[in-house]
Amino acid sequence: MPLSSQDAKLWRDVSVFDGLQTLPEPMAVLIRGGVIAGLWPESVFALQDAQGAQEVGRGGVMTPGLVDCHTHLVFAGNRAAEFELRLEGASYAEIARAGGGIISSVRAVRDASEEALLEQTLPRLQALIDDGVTSVEIKSGYGLTTADELKMLHVARRLAEQLPVHVTTTLLGAHALPPEFADDSDGYISLVCEQMIPAAAREGLADAVDVFCENIAFSPAQTERVFMAAQAHGLAIKVHAEQLSNQGASALAARYGALSADHIEFLDEAGVKAMAQAGTVATLLPGAFHTLRETQLPPIQLLRDHGVPMALASDANPGTSPICFPTLMLNLACTLFRMTPREALAGATAHAATAIGRKDLGRIAVGAPANLCVWDVQQPAELAYAVQPGRMRQRVFAGVLTHDR
Ligand code: NIG
Ligand code: FE
Repeated sequence: MPLSSQDAKLWRDVSVFDGLQTLPEPMAVLIRGGVIAGLWPESVFALQDAQGAQEVGRGGVMTPGLVDCHTHLVFAGNRAAEFELRLEGASYAEIARAGGGIISSVRAVRDASEEALLEQTLPRLQALIDDGVTSVEIKSGYGLTTADELKMLHVARRLAEQLPVHVTTTLLGAHALPPEFADDSDGYISLVCEQMIPAAAREGLADAVDVFCENIAFSPAQTERVFMAAQAHGLAIKVHAEQLSNQGASALAARYGALSADHIEFLDEAGVKAMAQAGTVATLLPGAFHTLRETQLPPIQLLRDHGVPMALASDANPGTSPICFPTLMLNLACTLFRMTPREALAGATAHAATAIGRKDLGRIAVGAPANLCVWDVQQPAELAYAVQPGRMRQRVFAGVLTHDR
């Protein structure tokens, strides 16, 4: 029987990665009433500190529940045919220009009922949960009409009612130009700004707004119009920036106080400085880098030098990252981007939480919400070193033990 969020639970002798670093000593951890209520070095812990608590675990590594801060999890069908075209040499941009890519997922989503979208997305979300995710950001962006974008966001909200996970939603109406606006991209941006954003805000369906700023998508000027509309409706800002070319979108987003700029392979030092000044998080997406066989590395050392927090996410989507395996992202971040295991773990916890505007999440600290995982490994770095499903021993969401073996 699952323990409820009100029950006090105690772990002894666990190695704790607190969201930023590994604590120097084995710890005792107490949760009570849905929050982390106590955190002691095992050497000084006295049982009376945790009165009435049930001991539920000993040993292993505890981390905050993972925060996947950039996904396109709600979609219909798949793009395996496009994958094969790319293997034969076609580029992502060529496929997009020929009306495939994102637009093929748009056709599939427009044809799908809300129920069908929900059914197709549930197993993907379950895969994230089973690999440690307790918070996930989900974008729209495959509807591209007001009704279809709201349909996607509604599915995202319903997912949080069906599974034990925290969901934040992002309206990505400005993801691609739909065919019916082929010669009128400014007209489409007007639709995003004047109809989609107000409707999503009015119905409480979006927490943030995102734009794909790229030469195959929307210009910096169009991106800025979307940012202004988002701000006017009190919604946070995120951006797909500098993925295939340097458009200056990260600096623009930073000027609007964006939560994060994501992808950023082509980001330059001026952009890094603008992000540092604004406190905009750099979200790195090694799954897309890997899938597209990119060669331009994101400027990791510049981000470090300027103290820009680096988040890590799956970018789970049918085109550039058909990968629902968050701990694989830890490994890819290290092997492809040369991040350290500590940076990768902080990227998937504390910094990812900042990237969704929830600094209280992604941390093991007294008073923080009790969202955490215990892993069958000896030290946190192993989570990035080895690629192995099934290492999660326990998962706690909002104080409730959802996985226990
Ligand atoms: O994050 N870059 C744009 N958007 C997604 C890909 C979406 C798709 O190809 O379906 C990304 O890579
Ligand atoms: Fe994306």
